Amino acid sequence: MPNIALIPGDGVGPEITDEAVRILEAAARVYGFPVETEIFDWSCDRYLAQGEMMPADALETLAGFDAIFLGCIGDANKVPDHVSLEMLLGIRVGFDQYVNLRPIRLYPGVPTPIRTATPESVDFVVIRENTEGEYSRQGGFFHPDADDGFAIQTGIFTRKGCERVIRYAFDLAEERKAAGYQGRVTNCTKSNALNYSMVFWDKIYAEVAEGHPGIQRDMALVDALTMWFVKNPEWFDVVVASNLFGDIITDLGAMLQGGMGLAAGGNIDPERRYPSMFEPIHGSAPKYTGQRRVNPIATIEAVRMMLDHLGQPEAAAAVGRAVAGTLEAGEIRTRDIGGTSTTDQVGAEVARRITEEQS
Ligand code: IPM
Ligand code: MN
Repeated sequence: MPNIALIPGDGVGPEITDEAVRILEAAARVYGFPVETEIFDWSCDRYLAQGEMMPADALETLAGFDAIFLGCIGDANKVPDHVSLEMLLGIRVGFDQYVNLRPIRLYPGVPTPIRTATPESVDFVVIRENTEGEYSRQGGFFHPDADDGFAIQTGIFTRKGCERVIRYAFDLAEERKAAGYQGRVTNCTKSNALNYSMVFWDKIYAEVAEGHPGIQRDMALVDALTMWFVKNPEWFDVVVASNLFGDIITDLGAMLQGGMGLAAGGNIDPERRYPSMFEPIHGSAPKYTGQRRVNPIATIEAVRMMLDHLGQPEAAAAVGRAVAGTLEAGEIRTRDIGGTSTTDQVGAEVARRITEEQS
């Protein structure tokens, strides 16, 4: 029976986590698998009270679960972001969740600020490296208050780290091609300026591509890629990017999808040695805490991805249909996409559709 660790986190995290649980329970009931959840109050409030975001043995605790749902972390009025976010980055690295899987899809009926974005043109996946690169957190401050003070932040790109995530992207492109997609992996790079790390990354991309003759190679410098995302979103199938570049381009990707309230991601250990972690990619929006106004669709999409990962593809597909139906009908939607409904009203509507489809 899937056993899910829930980390609601900060700001609007608890209210969206309620919707994650609602959807999980509805899917479990309809598709006949028991599910258990346990809540961990790891957050900035805990930091203020106890001096740490999560206990020292947090990873050992989480290791006993099949998956993790993360609401959102961070509230800069309470704890500096680089301190609170160590928890998120620590779980990604500690559980070697080296793939950050971020689907970019525009559901029919959802308004987007980008004119080229239509449900037909926006349907791709970003594979973001999730354990090293620019996020390696190596460096230091040197006499930071002196006139000649400086800081160093080093990116670490290992052969193993680059190869495994690029391989994952190509394998995914093969799978998607079999399902009718274009069969293309776009290499998001910057090897014109980053003359060691990204040159190395490109070399490994080329090596992995050799083993996939049926998949089209493609490359775009990250700056140009942001332009192409807007100009020709239909070009993209699978995009593979380093940790920082993947972070940046997926916020733009979220706009193609209709906004941050719709974008979800999975932090995945493809080898399944550790639990994978699923989350909406938006922040904790502290100013909206408790107002039940944020869009829970990103959260529900994270649950959909989690169900897929847990070997419940039918339940996952049902969640997808219920989300699509809710968004297309358009009556029950939150303010970010032009409605007046509350977070829980949207969650209840998606749950209702999951349940009624089968009754
Ligand atoms: C994300 C977030 C995080 C990241 C932050 C909160 C550290 O922006 O998941 O995209 O940069 O990875
Ligand atoms: Mn981000």
